[in-house]
Formats: sequence, C-alpha cells, structure tokens
Amino acid sequence: MNHMTQDNLRSAFGGESQAHMRYTIWADVARKEGFPNVERLFNCTADAESVHANLHFKALKDVHGDFPVVSMAGFGIGNTAENLQKGIDGEMFEVGQMYPAYIEVAKMQGEESAVKAMEYAVGAEKVHAERYEEAKKAVEAGNDLDAENILLCPVCGYITFDADEEICPICNTKSKAFVAY
Ligand SMILES: [Fe+2]
Ligand SMILES: [Fe+2]
Repeated sequence: MNHMTQDNLRSAFGGESQAHMRYTIWADVARKEGFPNVERLFNCTADAESVHANLHFKALKDVHGDFPVVSMAGFGIGNTAENLQKGIDGEMFEVGQMYPAYIEVAKMQGEESAVKAMEYAVGAEKVHAERYEEAKKAVEAGNDLDAENILLCPVCGYITFDADEEICPICNTKSKAFVAY
C-alpha cells in the first residue's frame, strides 16, 4: 500500500482506538451523574469506534512492522454535557477535515480497501455527532437522553434510536444484525 495512505490509516486507527477508550471513560461519568441512556450511547459509540479501528487495521493487513502513530485525540474529563460537546468536536473534526482529506489521498492513490474503510467511518461519525447533539440537549435541560432503543450496525458503526429501521443507510446491512445497548 502507498506510504501516505498507510500513514493516514494508521493515524485513523490510533484516533478510533483512543476514541473508544475516551467514550468508555465518559460513559462511566454519565452513569455516576444519573444519565443511564447517555451511558448506553457512549458505550455504543465506543464500540462503533472499535468497528472503525477494525476496518482500518484489516485494510492494513499486508503491512507488517512497527510504526510511530500520531493521531489527533481529545483529552480531559468534564461533566456529561461537556464530555458530549468534546465528543461532538472530535466527530466533526473527523467528518469535516480528517477523513475527507485521507479519502481524497487514498482515491488518488487507487487504494480501494482504504477508501471503503474510511467512507464507512466518515458516514458513521456524522451520525455519532447528531446522536451526541440530541443527548447534550437533553442533559443540558436536566434530563436523560430519551432513547429506548440504541442500536449499532456492527459492519460500519452507524447508530440509530429507531427500532423500525430495516437497513443500514451507510452499508446496507439488514437491521436484524444490529446490536442493542
Ligand atoms: Fe464516532
Ligand atoms: Fe452499517
């Protein structure tokens, strides 16, 4: 694989791996603050980032060796509303800057597996930001997120609150494969 796309995929792998950890830590804060549905959303989104890290790692399956990995990753523990805003900021960085740039490079270099992995990721990240926005609005009003169903597409990391959706709008996986949180 072309070196620039390799570097970008490794950086994205690092970013997704760290986002997974960060969201599990913030899930714990939400639980302690009495927002169990926000806790579920953070845990679901944490696993969505694992899906992305997996996609990137597998796209790099033929690249062996040790590499320094530099990734943009937010730090800090605030209250749940603040953590949700940090989550939104991170997702929007990936949607607005990181993935579009990486995807353009991968396309230019004809790296199809990298393009596919990152297109799944960027589609899901946009939805993550929207779900966090909804959660933040509720928490700022003193309420928990109103979501009975929190469902994850295990193929692309898409998240929905709607149990009646039949198919993933990003990767076309049937919703019977979705994982409930
Ligand atoms: Fe995300
Ligand atoms: Fe999907």
